[in-house]
Amino acid sequence: MSFDEMDVDTIWMDGEFVDWDDAQIHVLTHGLHYGTGVFEGARCYDTENGPAIFRWEEHLERLYHSCKPYEMEIDHSPEELTEATLELIRRQDLASCYIRPIAFYGYHSLGVSPGDCPTRTAIAVWPWGAYLGEEALENGIEVMVSSWRKHSSSQIPTNAKTTGLYVNSMLAGEEARRHGYAEAIVLNKEGHVAEGPGENVFLVRDGELYTPGLSESILDGITRDTVIEIARDLGYTVNDDVSISRGELHTADELFFTGSAAEVTPIRKVDNVVVGDGSRGPVTEEIQQRFFDVVERRVDDYEEWFTYV
Ligand SMILES: Cc1ncc(COP(=O)(O)O)c(C=O)c1O
Repeated sequence: MSFDEMDVDTIWMDGEFVDWDDAQIHVLTHGLHYGTGVFEGARCYDTENGPAIFRWEEHLERLYHSCKPYEMEIDHSPEELTEATLELIRRQDLASCYIRPIAFYGYHSLGVSPGDCPTRTAIAVWPWGAYLGEEALENGIEVMVSSWRKHSSSQIPTNAKTTGLYVNSMLAGEEARRHGYAEAIVLNKEGHVAEGPGENVFLVRDGELYTPGLSESILDGITRDTVIEIARDLGYTVNDDVSISRGELHTADELFFTGSAAEVTPIRKVDNVVVGDGSRGPVTEEIQQRFFDVVERRVDDYEEWFTYV
């Protein structure tokens, strides 16, 4: 769905609420030319106790951490960004939505060094359903291993959620879609499984879960962390510091993606090889069910993960 079709009218920008159409920047903005921005993607869920942002504290913390390698200073406190976000959701009367905070080097000069470019900050919220489609949540998706490799964390900090990094994600995802797949899996420079263009990946084998470790050039996903915790609480062994080879994708019993946008999405085929029995597997289903029960507050646990609107 395009923004034009959505019932949203306000964006928070540099401390002010502005009309959606007035949230503009100059064409010579540093971040536009060099990808020098950092951002987040979080979700507000329509819970049994009213709208609540899921793991907002962790998203904010990652946003400020992402600034560090770029020596970028956000001129607004975490409290101010929180209040702005809650107010955006209230003003637009959204029960559930996606939340996109972004900070980037703005307009001043265009040397690669950002010099005196100001840091601009904005937050937008809008309704966004299942990222890969409702059907994908139930039946799973088909993915291909991309011919593009992920940047190594020695080339660019892959644990920072930097706008420029997503050129690689776009190339991988579009390559997959051109070949008829829903999404890509990207290998790292060493040839190990890293992640999806906007998702972390989990593998199930003999009843245990495996996910690439943080040194595999991945984003330290907040949904990854959530799934690790809820899976352990369900009694599963989770191996979260491993290297996974490409071939293991084909022989896995089950595979799934995690992400704030993708939530918990089963993968039923990789490179046309059927994973398990080619449908959402039982472990994936149990974890996915538990995930939605948690984020929609149908269970009382994990109260500390919610910021109520
Ligand atoms: C490259 C990449 N990996 C993993 C993820 C999943 O992270 P999270 O669960 O924090 O949304 C994302 C989405 O933000 C991503 O863009």
